[in-house]
Amino acid sequence: MSKEHTIKIFDTTLRDGEQSPGASMNIEEKLRIAHQLEKLNVDVIEAGFPIASEGDFEAVRRVAQSIKGPEIAGLCRANDMDIDRAWEALKYAGERGRIHTFIATSDIHMKYKLKMSEEQVIETAVKAVKRAAGYTPNVEFSAEDAVRTRLPFLAKVVEAVIAAGAKTVNIPDTVGYTIPSEYFNIIRYLKENVANIEKAVLSVHCHNDLGLAVANSLAAVQAGAGQVECTINGIGERAGNCSLEEVVMALRTRQDILPYKTGVVTEHISPTSKLLSTITGIVIQPNKAIVGANAFAHEAGIHQHGVLMEKTTYEIMTPESIGLSKNKLVLGKHSGRHAFGQRLDELGYELSKEDINKAFVRFKALADQKKEIFDEDLDAIVADEIIRV
Ligand code: KIV
Ligand code: ZN
Repeated sequence: MSKEHTIKIFDTTLRDGEQSPGASMNIEEKLRIAHQLEKLNVDVIEAGFPIASEGDFEAVRRVAQSIKGPEIAGLCRANDMDIDRAWEALKYAGERGRIHTFIATSDIHMKYKLKMSEEQVIETAVKAVKRAAGYTPNVEFSAEDAVRTRLPFLAKVVEAVIAAGAKTVNIPDTVGYTIPSEYFNIIRYLKENVANIEKAVLSVHCHNDLGLAVANSLAAVQAGAGQVECTINGIGERAGNCSLEEVVMALRTRQDILPYKTGVVTEHISPTSKLLSTITGIVIQPNKAIVGANAFAHEAGIHQHGVLMEKTTYEIMTPESIGLSKNKLVLGKHSGRHAFGQRLDELGYELSKEDINKAFVRFKALADQKKEIFDEDLDAIVADEIIRV
């Protein structure tokens, strides 16, 4: 597979993810996550926003010092003070240090937040990229609120920052507003209308306000984006960011129509997700794709029978591929005799067909009263129904 088809994974769990209400982490916790992201083999770790606080500065510096594989990015607004401070923390990563500078480009942000004209925004962006490029060639520029920016102006900004030395240009959907077909067209337009676009990697950064962050990121990849920005468990501002595990597993699972590779060692996904949840205290919803407790659980009898015969009947990826040891057959009122019998086997009961049938009747009656039947319930049924007689 050619190099253009390798998608860089830029993890921003420690920066945009940390902007989730209640997700703030201390330096030691950030370092633990950073080491886990290193094992996951992401391409870039955005470690923080160095000017935001002393703690953030220190966290970026420590991550830059101790992580050896991935590049380390630090965010900064498009002004000298932010950029200088970011490099002060990032310089410990040497060539792997990436300055990520941004300014908003949409009319609504320029008018109400920045109070700047188009010309001033371009000038500020170019000046920032040049200053950052004085420290390192590894400069990323983000056009905040790009999706709500008039396209010809966005193209002008992208062209100007590439000419100023940006090696990655990010097109964020800052407010999670776009849909896949629109985002595809934006990326395609930039690919086709910006001079020297091939000199930079086009990056995408989607928020999940409409639940479309992963779908939008995949559409952008199909349109030619070379980097996806995302977070573990999809944590981030408001409804969160594009979820790393979902986008990576979609790319891995649908190679037939998404022939793009990432370097992520997917077997580290589940441990990384659990570590983040433990550290932040943000519980993962059970039905969350890939890492939710039910993502590899089957309750319906027909499904359980299917996966006992052949896993691919109801599993599109293996639990092992994300680092789980096996799938889970949950016993409840929809479960059938096959899963019930298998669980009794696993618990060490050697029962006759007749005993299994008897126990199964009791199990169904109990399952109508309870949401889930646990091993202790099965022990009780067997003790009561079979051993007793
Ligand atoms: O959502 C956004 O626009 C951002 C940028 C700062 C990259 O997080
Ligand atoms: Zn963001």
